[in-house]
Amino acid sequence: MRSVEMVLNQMRGRGDAPPLDDFGQIEAASALGFHRRIGHYEPTPLHSLGGLASRLGLEKIFIKDESKRFGLNAFKALGGSYAMGRVLAEKLGIPIETVTFSELASPALRAKIGDATFVTATDGNHGRGVAWAAQQLGQKAVVFMPKGSAEARAANIRATGAECRITEHNYDGAVREAELFAKSSGAVLVQDMAWEGYEKIPRWIMQGYLTMAMEIQSQLRDAGEPAPTHVFLQAGNGSFPAAILGGIEAGLLCCKGEAPPLAIIVEPSEADCIYKSIQANDGQPRAITGEMNTLMAGLACGKPSSLAWELIRSFAFAAASCPDHIAANGMRMLASPVQGDPPIVSGESGAVTAGFLEWLMSTPDADLVRQKLKLGQKSRVLLISTEGDTSPQTYLDVVWHGKCPDVRGQGLGVRVQGLGSGVISCPIANVINVRSKAACSKGFHLVTCNWY
Ligand SMILES: Cc1ncc(COP(=O)(O)O)c(C=O)c1O
Repeated sequence: MRSVEMVLNQMRGRGDAPPLDDFGQIEAASALGFHRRIGHYEPTPLHSLGGLASRLGLEKIFIKDESKRFGLNAFKALGGSYAMGRVLAEKLGIPIETVTFSELASPALRAKIGDATFVTATDGNHGRGVAWAAQQLGQKAVVFMPKGSAEARAANIRATGAECRITEHNYDGAVREAELFAKSSGAVLVQDMAWEGYEKIPRWIMQGYLTMAMEIQSQLRDAGEPAPTHVFLQAGNGSFPAAILGGIEAGLLCCKGEAPPLAIIVEPSEADCIYKSIQANDGQPRAITGEMNTLMAGLACGKPSSLAWELIRSFAFAAASCPDHIAANGMRMLASPVQGDPPIVSGESGAVTAGFLEWLMSTPDADLVRQKLKLGQKSRVLLISTEGDTSPQTYLDVVWHGKCPDVRGQGLGVRVQGLGSGVISCPIANVINVRSKAACSKGFHLVTCNWY
């Protein structure tokens, strides 16, 4: 089993950052306005976990619970619905700001739009969002899923009337199938991942996610809370964390004079394409191949989205690669909270950031990592639990029956890389200071550590 690994992003602030206009107030307000006009829209709750914060030695922990989004158990429909709304508004030649979701489904506009089929590939949540939005709009959806996808996730998609095919490929192969299907059938590809030549719809999807940033901004302000100092964001192909990061850098979470929070991207060890890309430190994205066998199905993506990578490369502070037990611990911790904190049903991909934060703050030997991340008594951490129990059986296996147990004390630890011209390994925790000094004298900014 792999250990936790972390790398500081040395490309941050290098001066080749993309413009942030696409993620600023105007675009975010457009997305929020569109979502507000969906019949049963409600902001998802933002909880303050005061008990957990004091146990972990932090000032505050805020967690947004996206299991409450549109009754779909995950945040993803924010992106698909907004992008599909924009596709149809463009077809009608009207601005998105002037039309509601239900008007797009009305007989008058349906007659003008005609029949549309939306196609996508998904680990579950995005496809469910696209299928749900297509159903609401009275249109068709076809959804491709990777090999080994949970039947419950496919069943949720089929329940909307969409066609759902579980393919023989991993996530990236399923994306290729969806693209081919779109090309051969004339369906509209609504993929939550961008590549050269395919960026308009993925950008709309990312803008749809800004609704979360807008809600967090007003929830913090209503509670009289200043901006967070840190945000931990889980990544699949990176569209979600990059959208939030873009919003943050464009000023969505901060008042004038407040520094934007430091963002730490968190991925599964088996699908850590963003971690590997940041580690490579040459500005180019890296891909992971193979089955990407991880508990965190929603994060099992092998390639960073092109739009997401530009933002993450320029603005993320650090990236972490976590084994499955970190996510499992997060699920158990949120389900069974410190007294006074509310319980949160958080699925594998939703809970990994909470599990990672707990690990960081409670592993005695991780003090150097905490220092590097500037995490301590004055830190105000924001987490987004991006899904609930989207695979109910997995949730029970983990939370009730202890699947993926904690391995602390069993000889597995952390590897931290602070990047530079090389990587140094030190096998014993106590050796870290000695070795890191040696590293500094050799000009390494970075330290790699393994605790055994
Ligand atoms: C629950 C959950 N969280 C986070 C993500 C990561 O989103 P992205 O692939 O845009 O990085 C996903 C992706 O599907 C997801 O399903």
